[in-house]
Amino acid sequence: MRADLLALGILQAVGVAEAVTVYGQKPLVPTTTAAAADYTGAAAYNPTTLIPPPIPSPLNTQFTLQLQNGGTPGLSIPQEGSFLGFSIEMSVANQVLGKNSSHIQVPFLNLMANLQQRAGRVFIRMGGNTQETAVLVDRTPNGRMLEKNNTGLINPTQTPPLVFTPDLLYLMRNISSLVNVRWFLGIPFLLNTPSRLDIAEQGQAILGDYLIGLQAGNEPDLYARHGHRDPSYSPSDYVGEFGDLVISMSNEANAKNRNLLIGPNIAFADWTAQQVWDTGFVDQFSANLAYLAVENYPSDNCAVQFNTGGTVHQPQDVFPSYLDHTAGKGIIEKFKTSTEFATQKGKKLLMFETNTASCGGFPGVSDVFGAALWGIDYSLQMAYSNFSGALMHVGGQNVFYNPFTPPPTNQSSFHQWTVGPIYYSALVVAETLGASNGTQVLDLNANNGDIHTPAYAIYENGDPVRVGIINFITDPSGASDISVSIAIGGSGIGQPNATPAQVKVKYLLASSVSQKGNYTWAGQTFGGIFDSDGRPIGSENITTVPCDQALNICVIKVPAPSYALVFLSDEALTETSGAAPTTFPTTAQTKTRNTVTIDPSVLATSNGGFDKKRLGSTSPGSVNAALSLTPASTSITVSVLALVSGIFTVRRMFWP
Ligand SMILES: *[C@@H]1O[C@H](CO)[C@@H](O)[C@H](O)[C@H]1NC(C)=O
Ligand SMILES: *[C@@H]1O[C@H](CO)[C@@H](O)[C@H](O)[C@H]1NC(C)=O
Ligand SMILES: *[C@@H]1O[C@H](CO)[C@@H](O)[C@H](O)[C@H]1NC(C)=O
Ligand SMILES: *[C@@H]1O[C@H](CO)[C@@H](O)[C@H](O)[C@H]1NC(C)=O
Ligand SMILES: *[C@@H]1O[C@H](CO)[C@@H](O)[C@H](O)[C@H]1NC(C)=O
Ligand SMILES: *[C@@H]1O[C@H](CO)[C@@H](O)[C@H](O)[C@H]1NC(C)=O
Ligand SMILES: *[C@@H]1O[C@H](CO)[C@@H](O)[C@H](O)[C@H]1NC(C)=O
Ligand SMILES: *[C@@H]1O[C@H](CO)[C@@H](O)[C@H](O)[C@H]1NC(C)=O
Repeated sequence: MRADLLALGILQAVGVAEAVTVYGQKPLVPTTTAAAADYTGAAAYNPTTLIPPPIPSPLNTQFTLQLQNGGTPGLSIPQEGSFLGFSIEMSVANQVLGKNSSHIQVPFLNLMANLQQRAGRVFIRMGGNTQETAVLVDRTPNGRMLEKNNTGLINPTQTPPLVFTPDLLYLMRNISSLVNVRWFLGIPFLLNTPSRLDIAEQGQAILGDYLIGLQAGNEPDLYARHGHRDPSYSPSDYVGEFGDLVISMSNEANAKNRNLLIGPNIAFADWTAQQVWDTGFVDQFSANLAYLAVENYPSDNCAVQFNTGGTVHQPQDVFPSYLDHTAGKGIIEKFKTSTEFATQKGKKLLMFETNTASCGGFPGVSDVFGAALWGIDYSLQMAYSNFSGALMHVGGQNVFYNPFTPPPTNQSSFHQWTVGPIYYSALVVAETLGASNGTQVLDLNANNGDIHTPAYAIYENGDPVRVGIINFITDPSGASDISVSIAIGGSGIGQPNATPAQVKVKYLLASSVSQKGNYTWAGQTFGGIFDSDGRPIGSENITTVPCDQALNICVIKVPAPSYALVFLSDEALTETSGAAPTTFPTTAQTKTRNTVTIDPSVLATSNGGFDKKRLGSTSPGSVNAALSLTPASTSITVSVLALVSGIFTVRRMFWP
């Protein structure tokens, strides 16, 4: 069933159509007319806009990508469409996922459903610095699912210790019942009490197969620097502690699965990965290691965010360093031997926590279209380099780099979510890799290696199926748009011509790498600040490009800036577009008055397409009934209960 019909169904079923007042809802966006320098609001909505890097000169705007069926050397290991997932800082779980197990954030479900539709599943790590001292308790002092214990601040990064209840795990389980999210958790490594295994035990009991890994230690190479361990703390000390953990899990009947651990999770700050591999860690604990993982950010904004006294990086100065093909390559250069090592040992290496810059990212860099292109190139570069996945970090209102941000709690009745550039990266990477689990990625070293115009080919069973091309340049004149001739087979390489009659192309577009919000992927967008309920809006626009089969080329235009995903066959397109998404057409809100937020076209036409304009409905106390929805693409029946309080609650689920 179409999402818009589902939305209508809600109104009909709850029988409140006549009581619903609909009005054009203008989001209260922080003013961008005020000088960005004077902005004092939350980082997530910072209006800073930077100047795009200059147009490179000379620039070759026409080049050929010669591909062949079979026999292409240098392809990556097989990759999964869920390659790019998220790492959610544990302390913001109650904002991002939902207040508790019966109050799930519907926009979050929609955002994940979009990815599931393309990749089959979504990988999410619930953790970060805050996992390290988090204590699982039966009840928190205030009765909430998750609380910060600000009386116990123990480290210089101002990370509050957390207390949380099993309800957080039930919340995660309930989410996985609706969308196929697979979870990573972390065992608190800075606590040295038996209770630190509670999350492993309860996590396994509650999440079952949806729990796919337990991180043992988060950035242990920084423990000494942050005063959590002696200054002499070394890789072999970490490996020793890992061994102690394995032993204590062995002695704990309820921590049944001891093969879910993930290490060494170093930040590559004070140790190299090689130093850890040299300890024999992987051979010693091979049976316990579900994955190997590292964490890395290309830069940091700690000096500004936390007044650390470290180097201040000016956003305008660092902006260009994100906008070419050396950016992603540079981050993972130091892990080249590690991906080889992992492959040899039969292990998968994950980039467990990453984003544009640690300590929240940079204004005007992390929250603009350029970051979406950066995220795509970086992810495809990791896939090509034999990483097996990467998780983009999600923080609270005080960071710039969020893939998605719920509105501040006291604004959730009149604001929706803000979808950032990195979410578009995840959507586009999911679609580029597809759901087959068997795609292999090749960096084509396009345009004689011009760093502004990289391209990748995606292979299935040895044959190219999709081509992704990035144009990092901003040039509204059109003079820096590139024309890429794709040739498959041909006499030049001693193969029969295999160029199809036509190809389909989807574009990720914005006017500039500096643009904030309103990017379009195949014509659809999640809007600007406070604009999204997690469903793409606008109609899908897929461009058909006729090829010249006599000349054996398809010429693809790639505007400056943009990403173009070329589907070399219709199967390559349908594989990644999948079934219609299961969407959840309501908005969870925590205020007591305003209630349903629905698409206006639903009311206007009953079954019209999505419209960019947002309307809200506010009839206090008028919505109070339950109904059943049966999304066509799954056999799940969801019962949605709209409470008088305006909280949409996913109340019951029936499992086939
Ligand atoms: C979840 O939160 C809602 C809204 O605050 C509350 O009504 C409900 O009782 C809570 N449920 C649980 C299981 O704590
Ligand atoms: C908060 O931290 C303090 C100091 O570490 C500790 O004494 C207290 O028990 C903690 N509170 C909870 C609810 O865990
Ligand atoms: C990735 O692994 C494959 C298979 O082992 C190998 O052929 C390829 O060279 C590796 N790629 C890189 C960039 O190391
Ligand atoms: C929301 O809370 C913040 C912090 O307490 C406050 O500054 C802001 O004015 C509040 N906004 C609204 C709309 O109530
Ligand atoms: C891909 O792999 C996942 C996890 O291993 C599995 O659940 C899924 O069914 C696989 N998909 C396909 C199309 O084989
Ligand atoms: C996004 O588009 C909407 C609707 O066209 C517009 O009102 C808003 O100003 C745009 N936001 C940005 C940041 O460009
Ligand atoms: C669809 O996308 C193409 C390529 O960007 C553009 O030229 C065309 O105008 C778009 N069509 C619509 C209806 O938006
Ligand atoms: C979520 O989890 C709670 C606790 O197990 C359970 O009672 C509730 O029925 C679940 N809600 C949904 C929508 O599955």
